[in-house]
Amino acid sequence: MATTTFYNILFLIVTLVYLISVSNACPPSERAALLAFKAALREPYLGVFSSWKGTDCCHNWYGVSCDPNVHRVTSIDLRARSEDPIFAKAHRTGYMTGSISPAICRLTRLSSLTVTEWDGISGQIPPCIVSLSALRILDLTGNKIDGEIPAEIGRLRRLAVLKLADNQIAGIIPPSLTNLSSLMHLDLANNKISGTIPKNFGRLRMLSRALLSQNKLIGAIPSSISQIYRLSDLDLSLNQLSGPIPASLGKMAVLATLNLDGNKISGPIPPSLISSSINKLNLSRNSIEGHIPDAFGPRSYFTVMDLSYNKLRGGIPRSISSAAFIGHLDISHNHLCGPIPPGSPFDHLEASSFVYNDCLCGKPLKAC
Ligand SMILES: *[C@@H]1O[C@H](CO)[C@@H](O)[C@H](O)[C@H]1NC(C)=O
Ligand SMILES: *[C@@H]1O[C@H](CO)[C@@H](O)[C@H](O)[C@H]1NC(C)=O
Repeated sequence: MATTTFYNILFLIVTLVYLISVSNACPPSERAALLAFKAALREPYLGVFSSWKGTDCCHNWYGVSCDPNVHRVTSIDLRARSEDPIFAKAHRTGYMTGSISPAICRLTRLSSLTVTEWDGISGQIPPCIVSLSALRILDLTGNKIDGEIPAEIGRLRRLAVLKLADNQIAGIIPPSLTNLSSLMHLDLANNKISGTIPKNFGRLRMLSRALLSQNKLIGAIPSSISQIYRLSDLDLSLNQLSGPIPASLGKMAVLATLNLDGNKISGPIPPSLISSSINKLNLSRNSIEGHIPDAFGPRSYFTVMDLSYNKLRGGIPRSISSAAFIGHLDISHNHLCGPIPPGSPFDHLEASSFVYNDCLCGKPLKAC
């Protein structure tokens, strides 16, 4: 009698443990999708995928996280440069080849896909990724991904972070991108993206960083950008953008960095930029004309102001002495003329900040 009870209880416990472990495990379909994702990649040095075995992909699979309640895969996070001990053990950063398998699109609860700095991952972004309606973070920075940004990217209404920098992505910025109403951080720098910046870019109301430098963008800077209240960092440098600088950029509440260097921008410097919230301004290497606006004041606080290699004429405005701070100023390689005003914002600057103008004079250049 006692033995029967003992075995009954034992059976119950075993059944319970089994049920708990099964309900904790990831669904077989998600496990299969992860294994297909793994099969399309090759990581020869670190063994990041060596833990991807067994039935329960929600526990101890390197870089995989699941929702603790529903046991569905919510995040894949594989970074080739990280603090993880496997990198210290191997004494190297990661390297991976292969491509991002469309099998990823079967992980329908995925909210974050981060596969960064592996240098060798090529192929395109699977277009089906636009069906992952829970996706909040897509970060594929630092690979060799080519092809185009999926045309229907705008369907990802929850997407807050889109980072595709340092790849070989070509094609245009898809018109649907401006439908990403949750987007906060956009980084497409250092790719081969061509065409224009969509006129209605300003619809991205949540955006705080827009980094589009080192591409092949042409056309004008859309003035709608100035409607993005939260934008603090706008980098459009090293493209082929033309036309004037929209004066409204100088009226933006929190814009701190404005890099437009290395384009084909013409027209004058809007006076609004000089007394704005901007503290890093690089307009170097364009075709900017006219005078440096006489609009400096106590609100002018620049850690960097680089206006070099343009077609600026006239003198250095007197008001510049009233600027709160100018850390690094470069107005070299223009057609400026006249005396360099004495005053505190200049005391630390070297001659290289002023050289190659038509006839500037005074400290730190030759006396007038
Ligand atoms: C943006 O979203 C709206 C509303 O869902 C849709 O009608 C429109 O076609 C989308 N625009 C693009 C370019 O996809
Ligand atoms: C400004 O942009 C130019 C051209 O891209 C670059 O060479 C220069 O280093 C930048 N200036 C500063 C101070 O970063």
